[in-house]
Amino acid sequence: MNTQANCDFGMIGLGVMGRNFLLNVADHQFEVIGYDLDKEKVEALDKEKAGDNVHATAELNTFVGALKSPRRIMLLVPAGKAVDAVIDSLLPHLDEGDIIIDGGNSHYDDTTRRMEKLEDAKIHFLGMGVSGGEKGARFGPSLMPGGKIDAYEPVRGILEAAAAKVNGEACVAFLGNGAAGNYVKMVHNGIEYGIMQLIAEIYDVLRRRGGLSEEQLHQAFKSWNEGALQSFLVEITADIFKQSDDQVEGAMLINNILDSAKQKGTGKWTSQSAMDLGVAIPTIDSAVTMRYLSALKDERTKAESLLSGPEVQKTDQQEELIAQAHDALHFAMLVSYAQGFAMLQKASEEMGFGLDLVEVAKIWRGGCIIRSRMLEDFMKAFAEDKQLANLMINPDIAKTLSQTASQTRKVLVQCLEQGIPTAALSASLHYYDSYRTSRLPSNLVQAQRDYFGAHTYERLDKTGAFHTIWGAS
Ligand code: 6PG
Repeated sequence: MNTQANCDFGMIGLGVMGRNFLLNVADHQFEVIGYDLDKEKVEALDKEKAGDNVHATAELNTFVGALKSPRRIMLLVPAGKAVDAVIDSLLPHLDEGDIIIDGGNSHYDDTTRRMEKLEDAKIHFLGMGVSGGEKGARFGPSLMPGGKIDAYEPVRGILEAAAAKVNGEACVAFLGNGAAGNYVKMVHNGIEYGIMQLIAEIYDVLRRRGGLSEEQLHQAFKSWNEGALQSFLVEITADIFKQSDDQVEGAMLINNILDSAKQKGTGKWTSQSAMDLGVAIPTIDSAVTMRYLSALKDERTKAESLLSGPEVQKTDQQEELIAQAHDALHFAMLVSYAQGFAMLQKASEEMGFGLDLVEVAKIWRGGCIIRSRMLEDFMKAFAEDKQLANLMINPDIAKTLSQTASQTRKVLVQCLEQGIPTAALSASLHYYDSYRTSRLPSNLVQAQRDYFGAHTYERLDKTGAFHTIWGAS
């Protein structure tokens, strides 16, 4: 290739996400270059013949030399040590004012550390969440950049061009200071875990209690996707139920997939950070826990014959169950989002991100895995009250939750009676019931703490800290 510095944008890491994102940027008339140590990946991009404005190299010098100043370089390499290694190899080749964007699922603490290190070298660093998987990267992801606004401005045009569009608006916005972008993406993934687990539980109820065939499951989710539950995850779930197994004649693929879910860690980080912040996100926590329990396939298989429970009886009220399950999923999806947004509100305060939750809801409407019709309502809710502590107390959302809660209870009663595990669905209802209960039994916990540890308690009728010599009267 011509080695003049005429490229607008460079990508390091030409795996699935990197290659697709680069091609997406190139579609918008930018001159781009990709770099990867792996020659096969470089050749694969070359072979794609995506256009004269797409270049690829396995030489770092060529890559850096091809970029216009300030250099705009995005990394899409596995989160963790690889990011540090790439930054270290890149640093000697960069000039003041160049911009590095880390587009991986990096931990927010790593982003903060990298940002500080690069600030000393006067290199701009943005931590940017990228959501939407392979297709999103290629045709329009949701982009969640954070860091310093000075670093964002020179890349704004490229990111706005590449991002998904909803009603003509790009699903990208500068989210805030420091590691805001990675933090928002982490919580996005936590919500993603929550909704995926909820859908899986509803599937189990419909299949085992409702006796729905794969075709009926497909129809149910397909019709749900045309109403209030319209979302990417419900849409792909409908598709999954109609996929036949090309390895077993006459079988549906879903029935031959091992029931052991893997994870890369972002859901766990969400739960860990929520615990550190003192924020309750039990739907998301349950979803993370269920991934661990699902992984115990051998133990579960042994336990099945040892630990007794009810045999699931099929209902003769299939239609009614489908309607209840619809409302339960609606209810619990709302709760899952509510927990994620409440966490972001608190994290922004504590960590000084300066998040605007209207913008977060806005850029999650398209491109990302948790995109759904509900996001429009959340945008409205936060536009009415930027400081809203919890979406559940927005009057419109409260109304929907109140309307769908009774159907959720009906699903859960059956699951308890039938022994169908519904950890995330139960956690969602318990969260709701706890949140709407002004008098919880935590007075007793306080009494116990004071009894055995003299930890003191507060009173309803007086201010101050009190201690009692328990058992004396
Ligand atoms: C996205 C996804 C993406 C990825 C997750 C899956 O927004 O595009 O969240 O980032 O699919 O990392 O995570 P697990 O492997 O942990 O399920």
